[in-house]
Amino acid sequence: QSVTFSKKDQQKMINVAHRGASGHAPENTMAAFQKAVEMKADYFEIDVQMTKDGELVIIHDTTVNRTTNGTGAVGDLTFEEIRSLDAGSWFDEKYAGEKIPTFEEVLDAFRGKIGILVELKSPELYPGIEEKIATVLKERNMDRPNNKKIIIQSFNHDSVQQSKTLLPNLPHGVLAGPSWRNVTDEQLKEFATYADYFNPNMNIVTTELVNRVHATGMLIMPYTSRSQKQADRLFHLGVDGIVTDYPEHVYKHPVK
Ligand code: G3P
Ligand code: CA
Repeated sequence: QSVTFSKKDQQKMINVAHRGASGHAPENTMAAFQKAVEMKADYFEIDVQMTKDGELVIIHDTTVNRTTNGTGAVGDLTFEEIRSLDAGSWFDEKYAGEKIPTFEEVLDAFRGKIGILVELKSPELYPGIEEKIATVLKERNMDRPNNKKIIIQSFNHDSVQQSKTLLPNLPHGVLAGPSWRNVTDEQLKEFATYADYFNPNMNIVTTELVNRVHATGMLIMPYTSRSQKQADRLFHLGVDGIVTDYPEHVYKHPVK
């Protein structure tokens, strides 16, 4: 007997399109972000890194090898080199010509249309990236109190703390891989001194963890759901949001 949820509960579930709606379009491209808007996700998630010459770019891996027709580390390539790459064909020929977007481009195209969950990806490789991100957001007045449409998160918790100091008005999130399975209440309490979200790998989520995160005042948005079954499980565990490649899964829950 599966639990059913009211329309109200369903609407409360925060729907986060992972790297854009990356089940439907090449991850971290304008096409995937546009798809997330069309699918009415609440947020899309992006991975921010930095080129050799200091441009903030949106790509997940620390090399361009998997998702473009080029090779090399993001931090060893200039923006011009990065920009000449095709970031769409690997996914489907119909996306040939998609480029690696810049952080500024994404903000300018999508702010006001959808929330953006900004992951600082491997920030230890890019000294000063926290300041750059803060500058770009401040230039656009996107660091105002209660701007719930930008959330900043990282697996690098020092980087999250640094960003929170630079952008105290914006919500921040701590990402937690499987090694945080046995996270203690003390650790959660410490995270809650600078973070508003504890966003773990979905495989370590239990009802008990959800309750313990909530007890600190933080919200929990696990990653990354890739099937209806996984989304359903997270929904039933009482999480606040689901990071998914398929935003449609987050809507398809039984309603009373
Ligand atoms: O939102 C969290 C999720 O994006 C973290 O994992 O590897 O997809 O960046 P990854
Ligand atoms: Ca990510």
